[in-house]
Amino acid sequence: EAAEFFGRELTAWYRRGNRDLPWRRSKNPYYIWVSEIMLQQTRVDTVIPYFNRFIERFPTVSDLAEAPEEDVLKLWEGLGYYSRARNLQAAARDVAEKYGGTIPADKEAVSGMKGVGPYTSGAILSIAFNIPEPAVDGNVMRVLSRYFCLEEDIAKPAARVAIEGLARKLIPPGAAGDFNQALMELGALVCTPRSPHCLPCPVMEHCEARLTGRQDELPIKTKA
Ligand code: ADE
Repeated sequence: EAAEFFGRELTAWYRRGNRDLPWRRSKNPYYIWVSEIMLQQTRVDTVIPYFNRFIERFPTVSDLAEAPEEDVLKLWEGLGYYSRARNLQAAARDVAEKYGGTIPADKEAVSGMKGVGPYTSGAILSIAFNIPEPAVDGNVMRVLSRYFCLEEDIAKPAARVAIEGLARKLIPPGAAGDFNQALMELGALVCTPRSPHCLPCPVMEHCEARLTGRQDELPIKTKA
């Protein structure tokens, strides 16, 4: 049915072709982590050169842990939200100390890292380790609100909780990483905030918003 169709077709669409982004060239959990922290408040195009310089200068968790903080902040200059950089290094020091520099494939460990909230934790666990955890951000809430015609106000914490439960159930067996990245990709390129591109959408035929002509009215979001 519509839920299974969504997971299957969206994942297949992603696998047929997606953007070649530097953090997609490996499943190194450290790379995935750094990229997700950078992408929290910054656009993909802006992040790319920062990510490449960062990984070149700090190739491993241990390199980051051992660096002077000013070197880390220097590489972050221009990205903004500098607490991200401080948290990243603090977490790298924790990972070096507690886990010998290897990010564990473990939900408790990953969600306990400084600067890692529910979205980032789900992204790291699914993309790096293929662990079936949802990674729900604003893009994913928009996509799922439209596909299932959810009327909940996505500005409310209850909506995120509900959508996380839904997103978890939608993960195709064995395909958590590709499915979550497919959702991000669809939200970024196709199911955009304004004027979504429904005709090339791989799941249009079962999208409740599209079927009822409501794709421009959803999601419902109070306050800017
Ligand atoms: N935004 C957040 N995470 C992303 C990822 N892994 N790829 C592209 N855009 C993203």
